[in-house]
Amino acid sequence: MKILKTTIGNVEIRNPLILASGILGSTYSSLKRLFHEGLGAVTTKSIGFKPRKGYPNPSVLYLPEIHSIINAVGLANPGCVKFGKELQKIDSDVKLIVSLYASSPEEFVSVIDCIRRYNKKTELLAFELNLSCPHAKRLGIAVGTDPEIVREIVKKVKRTSRIPIWVKLTPNITDITKIGEAAVSAGANALVAINTVKAMLIDIRTKKPILGNIRGGLSGQAIKPVGLRAIYDLYETLGSKIPLIGLGGISKWEDVVEYILAGACAVEIGSAFTNYSSPNILISKLLKGLESYLIHEEVSLEELRGVAHE
Ligand SMILES: Cc1cc2nc3c(=O)[nH]c(=O)nc-3n(C[C@H](O)[C@H](O)[C@H](O)COP(=O)(O)O)c2cc1C
Repeated sequence: MKILKTTIGNVEIRNPLILASGILGSTYSSLKRLFHEGLGAVTTKSIGFKPRKGYPNPSVLYLPEIHSIINAVGLANPGCVKFGKELQKIDSDVKLIVSLYASSPEEFVSVIDCIRRYNKKTELLAFELNLSCPHAKRLGIAVGTDPEIVREIVKKVKRTSRIPIWVKLTPNITDITKIGEAAVSAGANALVAINTVKAMLIDIRTKKPILGNIRGGLSGQAIKPVGLRAIYDLYETLGSKIPLIGLGGISKWEDVVEYILAGACAVEIGSAFTNYSSPNILISKLLKGLESYLIHEEVSLEELRGVAHE
């Protein structure tokens, strides 16, 4: 499937489909399996400096009527020491993106240093800075909605890391392009949009919020138009000078095409995997559909990028 080869800045992957952070990628064997089943690359769940337990249950709820999920997992993760050591177990041919979160520029640098110290083996495709988790206090969105903080984080991280830096943006802001511009001006190598949309649920019997954390983030098909608009806005403002990676609600190949027409050069997929007994069913449907579309339309992915703006 040569036609699906994709370039994100200086990075080349075999196709534009990437596993989104936090979904299915919590063990190294599942990351490896998803890559070997055909994805272009896979992203780990977000890793912080210290281990974190996350929020009390219920923390993940499925909303089948809108093919969506609401979660408040709260960045549960093993911390960078354990993660860095385990990273060495992963096959070197797996194209891996490591997602990171922190509460300050200095802490982001410490997490990267820590992973570098413990992982001497695996060559990473990129670090994805999660500046967008909607429900973790003083983390994620708290640092990702202020252009000055974003600029400072990206600048500091770029100074310490020769690995490409992707910045994952939140849709929970009036103008996503201001944050995108700040990240690009500080040297980000790609922008990823979107993380989940702030949301909640209330039980009408107990008359109380359902999630353990009360508030959470919505993902899945319900948020596709939100993600699409974010990519459209970013492309309109920043043009083709920065690679954009679109995500939010992708469940079929037509969604991938829409994101590319809006301006993305690759996409990430998360919640849709939970609708399949085996991820390879979704991966092969997406790859086949995308390939047939490109052949039928006689266009390359590159030529299709941003065409909705013309
Ligand atoms: C259970 C769950 C856990 C998630 N954990 C993370 C995470 O650790 N880091 C992150 O950047 N995004 C996380 N996300 C957000 C996804 O990566 C993605 O941005 C979002 O779900 C939208 O894509 P989708 O509609 O394809 O799922 C999580 C989403 C879900 C549903």
